[in-house]
Amino acid sequence: MADRKPIISGNWKMHNNHLEAIQLVQQLSYKLTKEDIKAVDITIHPPFTDIRSVQTVLEADKIPVGLGAQNCHWEEKGAFTGEIAPGMLSKLSVKFVIVGHSERRQLFGETDEMINNKVKAVLKAEMTPILACGETLEEREADEAVAKVSGQVKAGLAGVKADQVAEMVIAYEPIWAIGTGETASPEDAQQMCKTVRDTVRDLYNDATADSVRIQYGGSVKPANAPELMAQPDIDGALVGGACLDADDFHRVIAFRDAG
Ligand code: 13P
Repeated sequence: MADRKPIISGNWKMHNNHLEAIQLVQQLSYKLTKEDIKAVDITIHPPFTDIRSVQTVLEADKIPVGLGAQNCHWEEKGAFTGEIAPGMLSKLSVKFVIVGHSERRQLFGETDEMINNKVKAVLKAEMTPILACGETLEEREADEAVAKVSGQVKAGLAGVKADQVAEMVIAYEPIWAIGTGETASPEDAQQMCKTVRDTVRDLYNDATADSVRIQYGGSVKPANAPELMAQPDIDGALVGGACLDADDFHRVIAFRDAG
């Protein structure tokens, strides 16, 4: 099995103006140790208006945190009022883009086809997509979680080559666990992350499936991170609420120090 380096990402959602952003990044940087950086890849995903400020701080202070965005459009330019092109992000040293977050799917009507276009556009702009997938509570209760999530993964990866998928990140985020304080049990999270990996295996091959990194997201906190991260198919976390506090986020990053 491939040796996958854990990747822990902070999705700020619609929090922090650019001044608050600078403060949070600096607070986090003071806490990061050499061991953290060696053991874990870290990305942060501020709102678009913060990206330039965060880029400046990361570069000036040589903070080893990957800059990320929460979304982008799939076209390179054009009459798309209010949208941001992938190339605009890569020009600002953005390296990771979350694509298909459930809030984008549910609140902003993003379809599997749009999300697939975004995945391809992010790759074309030489950034790494973090493709998000996850089922609703109703789907889970109706025993449809596996079908839903594997369908989202298949649709999101349509037309993407194996070597690109191998370098990608896929985030499994059950919608009922997002912002609710309700976490999937480590066993359920593992089962669904394995479903994601098996889907990649069916679509591509063993090498691709063993290389792609799969995150769990949904009420990840310092207290539950160690158990989640101990699961064989969980290679990281996509953190919402807990990443808004530098200490909490750092304690998630330092999950291996717990206990
Ligand atoms: P919470 O950690 O606040 O549940 O959010 C998870 C999430 O949606 C990250 O993208």
